[in-house]
Amino acid sequence: MLASPNPVATTAMPKPVRSPLDPSQIQYSSKKQQQAVADIVEQLTLDASTLKGIKDHFVQEMRKGLAKDGETIAMVPSYVLDRLNGTEIGSYLTLDVGGTYIRVVSVNLLGHGQVVSQHKKYKIDEELKTSEAKLLFVDEHAIVVPLETELELGFTFSFPVKQTGIDSGTLITWTKGFSCPHMVGKDPAAFLQDAFHRKNIPVRVAALLNDTVGTLLAYEYHHPSTVIGLGLGTGCNGAYLERVERIPKWKRDPSDPQGEEVIVNMEFGAFDSERQVLPVTMFDNKVDRKSMNTGKQIFEKMIAGMYLGEITRNVLLHLADRRLLFSDCSVQWEMNRVWAFDTAYMSTIEADNSPSLKATQMVLESTLGFGSELDAGRQRVDSSMATTLVDREIVKMVVQLVGQRAARLAAAALAGILEHTMGVTWQEDTGASIGVDGSLYRYYPSFRSDILDGLDAIFGLEPKMKGLCRGESGEAKIRMGLNTEGGGAGAALCALMAGRQKVMEV
Ligand code: BGC
Repeated sequence: MLASPNPVATTAMPKPVRSPLDPSQIQYSSKKQQQAVADIVEQLTLDASTLKGIKDHFVQEMRKGLAKDGETIAMVPSYVLDRLNGTEIGSYLTLDVGGTYIRVVSVNLLGHGQVVSQHKKYKIDEELKTSEAKLLFVDEHAIVVPLETELELGFTFSFPVKQTGIDSGTLITWTKGFSCPHMVGKDPAAFLQDAFHRKNIPVRVAALLNDTVGTLLAYEYHHPSTVIGLGLGTGCNGAYLERVERIPKWKRDPSDPQGEEVIVNMEFGAFDSERQVLPVTMFDNKVDRKSMNTGKQIFEKMIAGMYLGEITRNVLLHLADRRLLFSDCSVQWEMNRVWAFDTAYMSTIEADNSPSLKATQMVLESTLGFGSELDAGRQRVDSSMATTLVDREIVKMVVQLVGQRAARLAAAALAGILEHTMGVTWQEDTGASIGVDGSLYRYYPSFRSDILDGLDAIFGLEPKMKGLCRGESGEAKIRMGLNTEGGGAGAALCALMAGRQKVMEV
C-alpha cells in the first residue's frame, strides 16, 4: 500500500493551530459561572515553577529507576546497543500491538533513511483487550504471509516489559485498558513464536521492543543525532539513549553482547504514582477510579489520548451539575456515559476558530445529542434546548486547558530526559533530535507547540539550558519531529540490530 522512500522526515504538522480563547473574553451569564470557570483555570494551569518542580522530581526518579529494579519509573534497558550507522539494509516483517490497533508491516530497509513498506492494520475490539485468549493478537487475527524462506520479525509490544534479551522479556503489567492477567510475568515474544509454529508460518521473532524504542530507531535512521523517542498517543512513554555505565542495576555476563550505549525504555507513564508532585485534580481522580488500573499510571492518565476526553467530560459535568453550563441536561444525554467524550472531539473543538463555534456545536448537539430527546421509537428529536455561545466557549476553554496541561506535562518529562543526557549522549553545541509518534502529536492541534512552550518555560528557569529549545539566536538545538515511518521501520531496524549482535557473539 505505502511505498515511500522518505529521505527527509518533516517536522511540519498537517493540522490547524488553535486560536487561544481568553477566559476574560467570555460573556458569562452569572458571577457564579465566571467564578467556577476561574477555579477550573486555576486547577488546570501549570506555571513554569510548577513544571520545573515536576521536571526535577522526574530526573530523581529516572536515577532511582536506573539504580534499582522495582522503582516507579521502570527504566528498562532494551538490549539495543549502540547507534545505527545508516548502512542498515534488509527485509523484515513487523508486528505492532499498540493501544488501539494491531499492524502488520513488511519493511524493506534500503539504507540511509530510505524505507519501503506495506502495511495492514486491524482495530483491537474492546472485548479482546480483556480476553483470556491464549495470545489475543495472534489467535484472532490470522496473518497470511506467503513465504518460502524464513523471515525475521520485529515485534513491537507497547506495554511495560522487562527485557531479558533483545528478543525476549516478561510483561510487568498491562496498561491502556488491557487486562489479560494470565499474560503478566510471561514472555509475549515466546507466545507469538509458539503461535507461528502452530500455524506453520516460517517466521522467527528476532526482536521484542517497545514502540518508543522503535520510534527512536526509525527517527535515528533519518536523523543520526536522535537520542530520544517519544510516544504520545493512546498511552504515553519515552525511550532514550543512555551510557551503559550509568545503569548500575544492569548486571550482565561478559559473554553478553557488549556496547557503550543502550536504548532505555523508561515506562514514564507510571511517574509519580505516589502523587508527590503532580497536581492531580478531582477530575483526574474520577478517571483513575473508572480505569482498569486504578492507582497506577497517573502521569499517563493526565497526558495520554485515552484519558483526555474523559477528564474533559468530568470537568463539563461538574459545571453542568451545578447548573453553570448547559440549560438542560436530559438524563438520556450521551455525555452521561463514561468515556463518551472522545479525545478526537477535543481536536475538532480546538481547531474550531469560527465566531459561533460551529464545529463545537456539531460535536455537542449532533454527535453527543445535546438539546434533543429520544421519542417513543428511541429516535432523536430536537427539543428547544440547544447550546448557547457561552456554553460552547466554556467547553472550548475546558478542552484547551486539558490539552495544554497534557502537553506541558509531556514537556516536563522531556526536559528531564534532556537535562539528564546533556553532555553525555548529546552535546550542547550540536544539539539533540527527538522523534515522536502517536495520535496526539500527529493530530491534536497545537500539541507540538504547547510542548515547545512548556520546554521554553522550564528552560527559562535553568541557566544552562536557556534558549536551547526555540533557539534564541540561530538554529534550535532541540529538534523535535514526527516519525513519519510509523512503527514498521523501527521494529525492522531492531530486528537488524539483533542480527548484528548474533554475528558478534559467534
Ligand atoms: C505503555 C508503554 C507504551 C506507551 C505508548 C503505555 O501505556 O506502558 O509501554 O510505550 O503506552 O504506547
